[in-house]
Amino acid sequence: MAPEKVTVEFLNRWKAEGRPIPALTTYDYPTTRLLDETGIPFLLVGDSLGMVVLGYPDTTHVTMEHMVHHVRACARAKPRALLAADLPYRSYESPDQAVSNARRLMDAGAEAVKAEGGRVIQPQVEALRAAGIPFIGHLGMLPQHVVEEGGYRKKGRSESEVKALLADADALTEAGALAIVLELVIPDVARQITRRIPIPTIGIGSGPDCDGQILVTHDLIGTFPWFTPGFVKPKLNASQLMRQAVDDWIREVGR
Ligand code: KIV
Repeated sequence: MAPEKVTVEFLNRWKAEGRPIPALTTYDYPTTRLLDETGIPFLLVGDSLGMVVLGYPDTTHVTMEHMVHHVRACARAKPRALLAADLPYRSYESPDQAVSNARRLMDAGAEAVKAEGGRVIQPQVEALRAAGIPFIGHLGMLPQHVVEEGGYRKKGRSESEVKALLADADALTEAGALAIVLELVIPDVARQITRRIPIPTIGIGSGPDCDGQILVTHDLIGTFPWFTPGFVKPKLNASQLMRQAVDDWIREVGR
């Protein structure tokens, strides 16, 4: 699917060509290598790391140290896929802080950074772009705000939410974002945003009409069986296979 190194320039080209962009999260060396061998073009070291790898209840516990450690591990796989990484909670509260933390992720091997929010982080996005750091936006349900918002709720239900989403998508585009993740956005609204902006939208739980789709890999392959979002249709029950393999081995040892 991706025969050559995928660079940030590919994303816009693929949108223009109407070529869908599949993307998955990754957090370690072997998973990055395995996913990359499938030819997937886009991998994200997401701060979902906090939940599916580190066992925290939400992403607000993830630190820069966690992200740098895991980005380094993923980058050691030298993926052909574009490797992006999340700026974690409270790591981009000012333009200067955003640039210095994004540089740490880039030095660790990320090729682009992602952060949550629209107009409120426009100065940070402009500063990142001025520093030559490729930026991916994230709108809709913002997991780093789950505590204040009191849960994971679909966005774009009311007229005011739709207006805000459109204004945020425009602001990120103007500030120089190279793509925007749309999380839990009502599908009609996600389609509207996708048609409106020239940069790709990458949906998660936002219907089929985004330019790309991203999933948390653990949800797709069933390695975090205790919770799977309703919009995911897992392709594998890896936890079950693991339990079976371990049971078989325990029986062998007991023989
Ligand atoms: O942290 C993450 O994994 C993400 C994706 C779900 C988009 O932000």
